[in-house]
Amino acid sequence: MNASMANQSSAPDDIAERVAALLAQMTLAEKIGQMRQLNASEGYAPHYLADDLKAGRLGSVINIVDVGTVNELQRIAVEESRLGIPLLVGRDVIHGFKTVMPIPLGQAASWNPDIVRQAARVAALEAATTGVNWTFAPMIDISRDPRWGRIAESFGECVLLTSKLGVAMVEGFQGDQLSAAGSIAACAKHFAGYGAVESGRDYATTNIPETKLRNVYLRPFKAAVDAGVMTLMTSFSDVNGIPASANEFLLRQVLRDEWGFDGFVVSDWDSVRQLQIHGLTENDKESAFEAARAGVDMEMQGDAYANNLAELLDEGRISIDTIDRAVTNIIRVKIRLGLFEESFTDPEKLPPIANEHALATARKAALQSVVMLKNDRAVLPLSVDELKSVAIIGPLADAPYQQLGTWIFDGDVNLSITPMHAIHSLVGHDIDVRYVRAMENSRSRATEAFDDAVEIAASSDVAILFLGEESILSGEAHSRADINLPGDQAELVRRIRQTGKPVIAVILAGRPLTLTNIVDQVDAILYAWHPGTMGGPAIADLLFGIESPSGKLPVTFPRLVGQIPIYYSQKNSGKPPSHDTVVHIDDIHTRAPQTSLGMSAFHLDTHFTPLFAFGHGLSYATFDYQNIRASAQEISMGDTVTISVELTNTGKVAADEVVQLYVRDLVASVTRPVRELKGFRRLRLEPGQTVSVNFDLHTDDVAFYGRNMQLTTEPGVFHVWIGGSSEAQMRTEFRIVASA
Ligand code: BGC
Repeated sequence: MNASMANQSSAPDDIAERVAALLAQMTLAEKIGQMRQLNASEGYAPHYLADDLKAGRLGSVINIVDVGTVNELQRIAVEESRLGIPLLVGRDVIHGFKTVMPIPLGQAASWNPDIVRQAARVAALEAATTGVNWTFAPMIDISRDPRWGRIAESFGECVLLTSKLGVAMVEGFQGDQLSAAGSIAACAKHFAGYGAVESGRDYATTNIPETKLRNVYLRPFKAAVDAGVMTLMTSFSDVNGIPASANEFLLRQVLRDEWGFDGFVVSDWDSVRQLQIHGLTENDKESAFEAARAGVDMEMQGDAYANNLAELLDEGRISIDTIDRAVTNIIRVKIRLGLFEESFTDPEKLPPIANEHALATARKAALQSVVMLKNDRAVLPLSVDELKSVAIIGPLADAPYQQLGTWIFDGDVNLSITPMHAIHSLVGHDIDVRYVRAMENSRSRATEAFDDAVEIAASSDVAILFLGEESILSGEAHSRADINLPGDQAELVRRIRQTGKPVIAVILAGRPLTLTNIVDQVDAILYAWHPGTMGGPAIADLLFGIESPSGKLPVTFPRLVGQIPIYYSQKNSGKPPSHDTVVHIDDIHTRAPQTSLGMSAFHLDTHFTPLFAFGHGLSYATFDYQNIRASAQEISMGDTVTISVELTNTGKVAADEVVQLYVRDLVASVTRPVRELKGFRRLRLEPGQTVSVNFDLHTDDVAFYGRNMQLTTEPGVFHVWIGGSSEAQMRTEFRIVASA
C-alpha cells in the first residue's frame, strides 16, 4: 500500500481514492486506532507505545519533541504495522518554538497579517525539525474578557481582526504546500465560543445566543475553514447546555453541513471523558457515544473511544459510517501532509533553529506589537544625546523567562534578550544605566527594596519602570478576578512618582490590565504584552526612538474590572449613555440627572467609556486624516463602494500608521453593533507625506445572520468612519438599495 501510494499525486479525486482504498483494508480496531491520540511525553515513549503502534491502535501522539524518538515511532508505525499508516505528531506551537514570538494577543496588536504569517512560518520550520507535523494553533476564540487567562493566546475581541490574523497564522504554519518539509498542519481552536466563559473563569460555562454565535464567535472559524485549515479542536466548555465536545449543532450542522469542512476535528485534552463531569453522560461509554455522534473525529489523550466504540457499534448505537467518516477525515489530512511519502524527519534539511531570519522576525513582530498608550509632553522618545543617566526599575526589566509569556513549552530562555540588556547595548557608555529590580516578582508585596529604587530614580534623568505580570499569571487555567497590576507595583509607581522625575512605564502582560490607579502617575506607557525572545531590543529601539511605536490595541482596556465585558462593537441599547446625559464628577465617579434623559446605560461609579479604546495606539509621528468620501452615495446589492481618505504624516519622523475603517448598519431586522471594523491597513509614511487610502466595501462585507440565521445584507444606510482608532470621528455614509 505504502509503496503504491508514494507514487501518486494528491489531486482531490486521487486523495479520495487513496483514502477509500486504505479504508477498505482496515479492520475496525485499526480504524478506531486512527481516532486515538496519546500523550507521548517523557515516561511514555516509545516503548510504551510500541505495541499499540505495531497493532495499528494509535493514530497520533502529542508532546514528544525529540526527533530520534519521533522518527522511531514513525518507523514502527510505517514499517511494523500491517498497513503502515504514519503518525500525526502534535504539539502546542502557539507563538514560536525555540524562538519565541510575542504572545498572540501581542501579535494582534501589530494589526499586521504579514508579520503573523511570517512568525508562524518560522515556528513551523523550527518545530518541524523535531518531527512535529501538527500544531494546536491558532486560537481564534473571540476574547472580550481580560480576566480570562487565555486571552493571551487570542487575537482579541474583534471578528475581522481575529479572522484575518487567524488565516495568516494558518497560512504560515501550513505554507504554500502542506506536504513540503517545514509545513505543519494547523488547528483552529477552540470550537466554539470558549472566549465567552462566564466571568472569564477558564473552563466555565458559555451561553451564547445563536445570532451572536454566528455573527461573532463562529466567523473566524469560517474564515479559517475557507483558508484550508486542516483541523479544528473542540472547546472544553459547555455551549448553551451542550458541551462543545458533544455539540452536534456545531460539529455537524455548522461545520460539516453548512461549511463543508473536510479536515478533522480533535477533542481537547480528555474533553470526551469530561462530558461525564459536565453532567451530560454517566460514564466513558456514553461520553464516547455523544462525542462520536456529534462529530469528534479524534480523541485527544483519553481512551473513551478506544475502549467503547466497538461495543457501541455492536449494539447498533453508532454506525460504521460514523467511524468511517472520522477515519476518512483523519487519513485525508495525513495524505495532504505527505506523510505516506515521507514520515522521517531529517533536521539537517531544515534551516537552523534561531537563525538570523527567525530572530529578525521575532524582533520585528515585537516591535510592531508594542502599543504606546500615552506620551505626555512627548517624554518619549528618549534621546541618547541629551540623557546622562537612566534608572531602570522593576521585576520585568531583566526577566528572560517572564518576557516569553504563556505556552512556551519549547521556548529557549537562553535566547531571550531582556530590555535591561538591550538598553545597555544600545546606549553603550554614553548613558549611565542604573538598575534596581525592586520586587522579586510581579506579585511581591515586599517593599524593602523600594528605597533603593527611589534613590536611583531621584539621581537619574528619567525612570523607566518595567511592570506587569509574570508569565504564569495568564494562559490556560490562569484567570484573574482582579486585573490591576499585581503585588505592590502601584505603590512602587507612587513612590517613584514622588521623585519628580519623568516616569515611563513599560508594561509586560498577558492581558489588558486595569491601569486606572497608575495612569496619572506616569508620563508615558508602552504596553509590550509578553514580547518574546527579542522583546528587549524591540523595546529599547522604541524607547530611544530608533523606531516609532505602531501597535494598536486589539482589545479594549477597561477602567475597572466591573465594566467587563466592554468592547467597541457593543450594541447601542435603547438608552445609550452620552456625555450629555452623564456628568463626570471625577476620574472615578459619574452621575446622571434623575430625569428620563439621564437614565442611560452606565455605571454610577465609573465612566461609560473605557480607559483605552480598541484600536488606540500613539506614535512619535502625528497623523492627520482628511476628506473621507464614498465613491457613491448609493449602491445596489452585489456592488462595491470605495471609501477613501487622505492621510498625512504631520510629524517629524517616518512611522507606520494602522488605518482603520468602521461601519454601522443603522437599521436592521436584528440590531447591529454601533461599530464594526470592516477594513484596516498598516502603512508607512515619511514626514510630510500624504497618501490616499482606499477601502473597497462589497455589500457582502456588511452581511450578517438575521432572524432566520441566514447570512444576508439588508438594504439601508450605513455610516462609515476612518481613523486611527475605534473612536475615529470622521464619517461618511452610503446607502445600499435592493437590486431591481
Ligand atoms: C488546551 C489546548 C491544548 C491542549 C494540548 C489543552 O488543555 O485547552 O488548547 O492544545 O491542552 O496541550
